[in-house]
Amino acid sequence: MPSCEPRGDDDLVVPPWKIKVVELIALLDPRERRRALVEAGYNTFLLRSEDVFVDLLTDSGTSALSQEQRAAMELGDEAYAGSRSFFRLERAMREVYGYRHLVPTHQGRGAEHLLSKVLVRPGQLVPSNLYFTTSREHAELAGGRWVDVAVPEAQDTTSTHPFKGNVDLAALENVLRAAAPERVAFVRVETCVNMAGGQPVSVANLAAVRELTRAHGVPLILDATRLSENAVFVKDREPAGESATLPGVIAEIAALADGAVFSSKKDHFVPIGGFLALNDDELAERVRELVVVYEGFPHYGGMAGHDLEALAQGIRESTDEALVRHYLSQSAYLGGLLLERGIPIVVPVGAHAVFLDAKRFLPHVPQTSFPAQALAAALYLAGGIRSMERGIVSGQHGDEPYDGLELVRLTIPRRVYTEEHLRYVADVVTEVFERRELVSGLRMTYEPTHLRFFQARFEPEGGEPFAGSLEPALASEPASS
Ligand code: F0G
Repeated sequence: MPSCEPRGDDDLVVPPWKIKVVELIALLDPRERRRALVEAGYNTFLLRSEDVFVDLLTDSGTSALSQEQRAAMELGDEAYAGSRSFFRLERAMREVYGYRHLVPTHQGRGAEHLLSKVLVRPGQLVPSNLYFTTSREHAELAGGRWVDVAVPEAQDTTSTHPFKGNVDLAALENVLRAAAPERVAFVRVETCVNMAGGQPVSVANLAAVRELTRAHGVPLILDATRLSENAVFVKDREPAGESATLPGVIAEIAALADGAVFSSKKDHFVPIGGFLALNDDELAERVRELVVVYEGFPHYGGMAGHDLEALAQGIRESTDEALVRHYLSQSAYLGGLLLERGIPIVVPVGAHAVFLDAKRFLPHVPQTSFPAQALAAALYLAGGIRSMERGIVSGQHGDEPYDGLELVRLTIPRRVYTEEHLRYVADVVTEVFERRELVSGLRMTYEPTHLRFFQARFEPEGGEPFAGSLEPALASEPASS
């Protein structure tokens, strides 16, 4: 039963919004879905959105804007330089996060690019709590070497550790001790670690990382993309968070770092945008020199004036506890439905998604046959649900062997889907789970050089049976004309 306040972990909170504008969606018939999947090379990134019924590919740029954001967009100042909209954005960022400098970019990876260009020199290390695909890619393109210093629980899909996003402090200390300070570019801590299942980092852990980085003279940079949700987890799970306000915890976390990268397409509810926030004057100057080369003038950084306005308003909304709690309750609710039915997911359910554990879901498919990719394809085939592979296709690095997490992410856009959609998703996942032995592995037929998961193509290992075998599951659906 939904309630205004969550009573248990899996209770839905009544949305603190109502819907003013809608976008129609439709479920293609099974044959059409099969055609679309084959055309997409069994990669959900390559599906057309009109062929998708419930789109859980990502929470990135897929939120519903608020009426206040839309109204603010009317005030967009499209001046190339000195735009009023930039200064309004800067004010919002300073009020909420407290950093001195804001350099806007077209999205998060634009900020990662600039950060890596100014902080990473060839051969330097970037210790981080796990990795994000584009974050690691930019550090490595600048010649850096990524070092995973996440707690081991981050890789254990069954561990109920409340802060699986924490840094393994001993591992970090070893890295910092073994390397001279100038060999470490920066330490990166991601809030609500995406690739671990949206798992938070505790304030206590972050404070300890702050101490270590200070002692070793190394900058500490947050990937603060999902900071609001992380702050709610801190309020709920850490004694110090209990009596604090959400804006208070957000500011406290931000203050522990020297700067932060934000993909605003998540917590800030905008279709496009991001920024780099820094305290150091000289570093900010160097970043501004580069932003004009790669993004645009420092007063817009690749965004339009109206985007800057939507973002400024979105930053303020991201501190609204009712909104963030409702969002978290949607993931928890969907996760609860799946757990009740014995479906293997990452626990505890994280911020922005429910992650299916494909290794346990499809134990008969070896990791070299891309079980998470195959499962994502099966979910589309069974019910028009688009999800994202977060396993060997996304995670394998060059020729290094990979036996890490093998997950399918059912990502929840903010303020977009209702309880009915979530129940539908749970039913489709259940149906595939009940027929899981019919899902066979895939082979990769095209592999791009960079970030291969975006555009790789696949085909079923055993010819047609993969697509055909799920057909009986769909027999009860009404045929569309
Ligand atoms: N950092 C994190 C933690 C992210 O989740 C993302 C994007 C980025 C950086 C890059 O930001 O997309 O604005 O350039 N994550 C999206 C996702 C793509 O689906 O998880 P971006």
